[in-house]
Amino acid sequence: MEAPFVAVARADAIAPGKFLRVEVAGRPYLIARVEDRFYAVEDNCSHEDYPLSYGCLDGARIKCSLHGSRFSLETGQPEDEPADEPIRTYRVALADGQVWLDPSTPSNLA
Ligand code: FES
Repeated sequence: MEAPFVAVARADAIAPGKFLRVEVAGRPYLIARVEDRFYAVEDNCSHEDYPLSYGCLDGARIKCSLHGSRFSLETGQPEDEPADEPIRTYRVALADGQVWLDPSTPSNLA
């Protein structure tokens, strides 16, 4: 893979239904696996700047452990109150057994 993609984890290090917190250039991201699909989102709740990695997956959603908002891993949109702003999602790719993240631009917020 070429820049701006960065290798962030071995694909087999993230089991289906699990996620991993990674940092790229000092910024935290959450790499989640739902069945055989990988997603990347910022590790920060849009409600009160709280790490989403303290939460848990609910299907293809990440649930914030502080107030319970769930966000789509696909679109970043909140599906429950109190959050009313989306989180940033990022492009991911699989190559050479690795998960690659493009941290350059959120894929859901142009
Ligand atoms: S900080 Fe995440 S829902 Fe409030």
